Amino acid sequence: MLDPVEEIKQKLDIIQLVGEYVPLKKAGANNWRGKCPFHNEKTPSFFVSSDKQIFKCFGCGAGGDVFTFIQKIEGTDFPEALRVLAQKAGVILQKQDPRAISQKTRLLDICQFSVKHWQDNLTMSDGLIALDYLKQRQLSMQTIKNFQLGFAMDSWDDLLNFLKAKGYTETEIFQAGFAVKKETGYGFYDRFRGRIMFPIWDIHGNVIGCTGRILKGDEKVAKYVNTPESPLYNKSRVLYGLDKAKSAIRSADLVVLVEGNMDVIASHQAGVTNVVACSGTALTMEQITLIKRYTNNIALCFDMDAAGKLAAGRSIDLVLAHGLNTKIVQLPFGKDPDDCIKKDKQLWLDAIKNSISAMEFYFKELVLTQNLHNVDGRKKAAKDFMAKIAMLDDVVEKDYWIKRLAADIGIDEKLLRDALPAKTKKNEPVNKIQQQPIISTRNKYIVLGEQLVGLLIKRPEFLDYTANLFAPDMMPELQLEKLYENLILCYNKNEKLDQCLANQKICDSLYLNSVILYAEARSEGFSETDLKNELILTIHELKKHYFEQKIETLRREIEKIGSADKVRLDKLMLELQDLVKQKLAIGD
Ligand code: CTP
Ligand code: MN
Repeated sequence: MLDPVEEIKQKLDIIQLVGEYVPLKKAGANNWRGKCPFHNEKTPSFFVSSDKQIFKCFGCGAGGDVFTFIQKIEGTDFPEALRVLAQKAGVILQKQDPRAISQKTRLLDICQFSVKHWQDNLTMSDGLIALDYLKQRQLSMQTIKNFQLGFAMDSWDDLLNFLKAKGYTETEIFQAGFAVKKETGYGFYDRFRGRIMFPIWDIHGNVIGCTGRILKGDEKVAKYVNTPESPLYNKSRVLYGLDKAKSAIRSADLVVLVEGNMDVIASHQAGVTNVVACSGTALTMEQITLIKRYTNNIALCFDMDAAGKLAAGRSIDLVLAHGLNTKIVQLPFGKDPDDCIKKDKQLWLDAIKNSISAMEFYFKELVLTQNLHNVDGRKKAAKDFMAKIAMLDDVVEKDYWIKRLAADIGIDEKLLRDALPAKTKKNEPVNKIQQQPIISTRNKYIVLGEQLVGLLIKRPEFLDYTANLFAPDMMPELQLEKLYENLILCYNKNEKLDQCLANQKICDSLYLNSVILYAEARSEGFSETDLKNELILTIHELKKHYFEQKIETLRREIEKIGSADKVRLDKLMLELQDLVKQKLAIGD
C-alpha cells in the first residue's frame, strides 16, 4: 500500500494549494510566480513548480513541498499538516500512524469527539428540549447537521466522563477548553452545561473550539460562553463559518460579514453562503488578512443597535485601511440578519444587493443624523465627515463628497476645501507573516553558483564551454562544488542530467529542484543570446570572486609569516603574483 504521505503528494497539486493563499501568475511552462507570503517584498520572487511540486522563494529562501507549505503558512506542526492535507486529498489516515499524532492533534480529536457527543445528545430525551429550541428558531434538520449543532447536557461531568472513557486526561480536556478547574484546585468540571453548542472551525473545517448559547428563558446567566484561547483556538484569527463560506466567497468575489453565529447559519440556510461572522467582537487585522485570501470585496452588516454602530465604525476604518472595497448592508427589518431572514429571506438578498458604500454610510451617520438647523450640529457634521473625506485616495471621489457635504449643510464649498485636513496616514496593511524578518539573506555568490548549476542542468549543451573556463573548486561553496563536479561527470556519462544527479544523492532533492527552478525562473523569456550573455556574466562574476577570495587569503598569510620564513615567503609571493595576473586576465 502506498505511504499516505506519498499518496497525498500524488493527489494534491501544489499550484492549487498554494493558490488558495497566494495569487499566482504563470511564469514559463511549469512554473508559477507570486509575492512571497513569508516575507515582505514588492517584486515577486516566490515560485511554485508544477512538475517538481515544490515552492521556493529566492528572496528569503523558504521552500519545500505541500507539507512544508502548510506548516509554514498555518503555523502547524507536521502531524497537523498531514491531517489537513489528508482531508483535502481524501486520503484516510490510519489512526495509529504515529506521524499523525501530536499534542495538538489529540486536542483536535477531543473537539471532534465532543461535538459528536453533543450532536448525539439532541436525540436523547434530556436533549429534546434543545432540539425543540432549534426547530423553533426555524432551523432545518439539514442545517442542524451541517453546522454540527448540539446540546451540552445540564451536568457537571457528562462530557468529562465521556471523554475520559475515550482515554483523554482531564488536563487535555481542560487544555482544549471544555473543562474548568475547580476552585479548590482539585479536579475539573464541564465548562458547557445546559447549552446549545455551536462548534467553531478552522478554515479546513476542523473543530477548534465552540460557543454555547443558553436556552430560552434561562436569562440569569451569560447568553454565550466561549472556549477560551487554547493551543487550537485563537479568536482573533477565526471567522465563524469561513470553512463553509470560502468557495462561495471566491465565486461571488464578495464576503458578507455579520455579527452573530445564528446570522451565519440562517443566511446559509436561506441560500446565501458567502457569509461569515466575527462573533460579536471587533474585526481584527488577522481576520482581514484571512479574508484577503479569498476576495477584496467586503460587505459589513452590523446589528442596528448602538453597540453595533460603534463596532461598525471601527471595523469600517480598519477594513478601508487594508485596501478592501467596503460596502455596508443595511437591514430593512429586524435587529440582525437572522431576524430579517425569518421575516422574508428576499429582504436579506435585497439588502446585500443594495448595500451602500462606506462613505455613503458615514454620510448618513455623521451628517444626516445631526441637527443641521443649528450651527453646532452643522459644525460637528462638517468636522466628522471631513475627516473621512480626507482618508480617500481618489480625487474624484473626494470632490464628489465635498460637493455633497457643502450642499447638504449649506456651507461654501471653497471653505470646506480649505478646511480639508491633510491626508491622514492610513495604517499600512500589515500581514502578520510579512512582519517576520527575512529568514536568511543569501550570499550573492552562492546564488550565482546555483544559477550556473541550474542553467547547466537545463541546458547541458553549455557544459563543454563552461567546464573549460570554470573549475569545480571555483564554486563558492562545497555543496555547489560537488554538484558541479558531478554534473560534469554525469554529462560525460551521457545520462539524463537531473536524474543522474538525483541518483548521486549529493544534496537533497528539494535543493536540487530549487536550483533548477531558479534557473528556469530567471531565464524565463530570455532569447538564446540573452541566455549566453547571462552564462558568460555569471561565470565571470564567480571567477572574479574566486580570485579575490584567494588573493585575500594569501595576503593575510603573507602578512602573518612576515620575513621569518624567507623561502616560504618567496613561494607565496610568486603564487600571489600569479593569482593577480590571472585575475587581471579575466578583466572587470
Ligand atoms: N457573543 C459572545 N458572547 C456574548 C455575547 C455575544 O460571544 N456574551 C457573540 C456570539 O458569537 C454571538 C454574537 O456575539 O453569535 C452576536 O451576539 P448577539 O447579537 O447577542 O447574538 P445573536 O447572534 O443575535 O444570537 P441570538 O439570535 O441567538 O440571540
Ligand atoms: Mn439574533
